[in-house]
Amino acid sequence: MIILGIETSCDETSVALVEDGKRVLSGVTASSVQEQAKYGGVFPEVAARRQLEFIMEVIKQAVGEEKFDAIAVTRGPGLLTSLLVGTTAARTLASIWKKSLIGVHHTLGHLSSPWIECQPERHPERSQNEAKRSFGGVEGRRLTRLENDIRFPILALSVSGGHSEIWLRESHTKGKLIGRTRDDAAGEAFDKGAALLGLPYPGGPAISKSAEGGNPHYIEFPRPLAGEKTFGFSFSGLKTSLKYAIRDRGGIDALSEAEKKDVAASFQETVCRHLVDQICRALEVHDVRELHVVGGVAANGRLRSMLKERCGDIKIRIPPLKYCTDNAAMIAAAGYFMIQELGEGAHEGFETEASVSLGV
Ligand code: KG4
Ligand code: ZN
Repeated sequence: MIILGIETSCDETSVALVEDGKRVLSGVTASSVQEQAKYGGVFPEVAARRQLEFIMEVIKQAVGEEKFDAIAVTRGPGLLTSLLVGTTAARTLASIWKKSLIGVHHTLGHLSSPWIECQPERHPERSQNEAKRSFGGVEGRRLTRLENDIRFPILALSVSGGHSEIWLRESHTKGKLIGRTRDDAAGEAFDKGAALLGLPYPGGPAISKSAEGGNPHYIEFPRPLAGEKTFGFSFSGLKTSLKYAIRDRGGIDALSEAEKKDVAASFQETVCRHLVDQICRALEVHDVRELHVVGGVAANGRLRSMLKERCGDIKIRIPPLKYCTDNAAMIAAAGYFMIQELGEGAHEGFETEASVSLGV
């Protein structure tokens, strides 16, 4: 079964064709992130305007002459105006092409991303260069994972610009939220931290780059929620600590380049350590077969290495970088699993919503 996935929840316009929830046949992503960098964050009106400009061309390029069985689209949460561009296009095309339509919760998309096989996308219509550009460069090496290996129950850490959550997943569509952030999301902490450090948006990749070669123990920031036995997260205190640490050193302009690297490395270390502390505690309590880490922050190299150092006994799966950040392949995969597990229920009508919780 081939699903056409559409994801427009923020500043990416992404469309992909995915077979059986794992094989990506084609994928095209246009992004206004460079433009957003000028504003130091996402400017909703600009994001929506670009979504509108990109959507039909991206759909055309990703679909080409290929046939597919159903359309899956992100129904929320996200920026309402951006979401409306994707869901309106999806609703219209589903009606014209007589395809069934599945509204996918954005987080369910991220939770489905570990099933996507890492292999070069086939795209008959476009030149190799175009295909490379579209998904940020796909290596020719086949790195197929055996999906049979993936077995529930799974503990999933979902960390992005909008949420930081720990899920206990019993199936693709059933699970329990066992921990979440009380204030900022992990990606938001990176974005706000980067702004304090004078680094560009998006902050995660910028801090990660700046932290290279820096001393992660230059500043020992307080451990968030230290002493509390929860699976929750809190990042706003850390942001305040960073603000004061910079102020106490005479402000950002008083720091040498080497000191900026040390501060960035220390901040990154503390965010990652907090995420790993909580996931380790959850692993002690819940008997699961695998640990999945998904969402934009899962692209962080230090988080990846720290997880391996501290949770090495369990099978850890983290999608390749392009499937960590927002992409349509994960939405198509989630749509496929919804059809498999919910049958007719997968095709129920849905609202496009800026704020909506993943019920299961
Ligand atoms: O999942 P995503 O693409 O969009 C949302 O659903 O929010 O995540 C975007 C977030 C941004 O906050 C960005 O700073 C963060 O993911 N991010 C990273 C890295 N790459 C992206 N954070 C830390 N390290 C990275 N390498
Ligand atoms: Zn996301």
